[in-house]
Amino acid sequence: MLIKKPAMGWNTWNTFGMNINEQLIKETADFMVNEGYLAAGYDTLVIDDNWQESERVNGRIVADKERFPNGIKPVADYVHSKGLKFGLYSAVGVRTCCNKPGSFGYEYVDAQDFADWGVDYLKYDLCHFPGCGDRKSAYLTMAMALKATGRDIEYSCAICGESNPEQWMRSVGAHNYRMTGDITDSFGSIKHIAERRMDIPDFTAPGCYADMDMLVVGMNGVGYAAKGGCTPEEYFTHFALWSFYSSPLMIGCDIRKITPECKEILFNKDLIAINQDEECRAPYRERQSRYATIIKDKFTLAKHLSDNRIAFGFFNFSDKPVTQTSYMPDFGLPSNATKKLRFKNIRTGETTTVKDAIIVNLEPHACAVFIAEFVD
Ligand code: GLA
Repeated sequence: MLIKKPAMGWNTWNTFGMNINEQLIKETADFMVNEGYLAAGYDTLVIDDNWQESERVNGRIVADKERFPNGIKPVADYVHSKGLKFGLYSAVGVRTCCNKPGSFGYEYVDAQDFADWGVDYLKYDLCHFPGCGDRKSAYLTMAMALKATGRDIEYSCAICGESNPEQWMRSVGAHNYRMTGDITDSFGSIKHIAERRMDIPDFTAPGCYADMDMLVVGMNGVGYAAKGGCTPEEYFTHFALWSFYSSPLMIGCDIRKITPECKEILFNKDLIAINQDEECRAPYRERQSRYATIIKDKFTLAKHLSDNRIAFGFFNFSDKPVTQTSYMPDFGLPSNATKKLRFKNIRTGETTTVKDAIIVNLEPHACAVFIAEFVD
């Protein structure tokens, strides 16, 4: 199955952690449709860990009787009735991270149950993995088990950067794979994940995407992964980074309570278009200009888009305001180039024609994003 764009949707974990139930899922499905999330591209609703009973029953994973009294299928049916895709969680180990039954050794049984319930997206985590096991082979086994069901199921491998997944996840059938540990709702965590991502050789391409973890935009310090929260500017920087790196965009906040400001970030059409660009190129990063002084914590990303335009992002990770000068020869536009670039700021709409350099002022933890196109 070819997955042409990074996944977009909503996942229970960041805000609700273990505290999930059928009503929450149905209400969120309603919100995703009624509040325009589906129309904006967020088409998948994923139930993360802790939907299961503590032990298998007759060899099968079963839904928690109190929180999902009708089982998973009716919930999936409800989600489908809204025009959304339905995602569920399991783990490659013997137990999940919430200590529920994992799928190790039961892959074909579980995959068939998931397919029968109507699962369209499987998040497959790494916890309690047996020391004697081989992760690559275990992820491959579930990929094969999913294929054997005959149902199209997007395969999301939350391996948290273990065992250099970028080198083999595509070959074992993953559609996305986590590069890092769990995100928290803090700028430190966003920065850490982005820095780690930038240091990893890039194999992201259509069909299989490196995943920087679920979004924290809109959590505002509330929920399971809350750790102080972020400012709207920091959430914008977070969303821009995930967009430049074509990471899946899985919302993690309670969309029933989101602020208009944060919703606007999640609905930013330009950033979504950068994220979903069909060529899916990693951005080119410049932080050691031939001309500029090397300053840690500020850098420029240039991502080639499939229509010959280039998305530029100027980022300030530092705690102080900076003035950032990016010299165009560093981005393939030498002084004897026969064309210039016209930069359009996606937030202000202002345009500026650039020949030699662009200067951008950035507040702490802020970024500025431009779409550039060639002009005479
Ligand atoms: C791991 C994953 C998280 C979440 C939890 C659930 O920590 O990385 O995204 O799925 O497990 O237990």
